[in-house]
Amino acid sequence: MKDIVCSCNEVERHEIEHAIKVKSAKNLNDIKRITGANTGCGKCRGYINDILAENTKTETKSVNPNSW
Ligand code: FES
Repeated sequence: MKDIVCSCNEVERHEIEHAIKVKSAKNLNDIKRITGANTGCGKCRGYINDILAENTKTETKSVNPNSW
């Protein structure tokens, strides 16, 4: 089953995650530009922000072992 985030533009969750992880999207505007999501009704904004938060959180969690 497809995990559609933005039904206006049929953008799936994995496309949003790909934009964050591979194309270095950092915010909603980057996601809009790269995937086209959230360029219609705007209803999916909260969902995209959640995905952004989840995926940027894991990055900042990583600890540099040399800092111990
Ligand atoms: S659902 Fe994403 S812009 Fe409408």
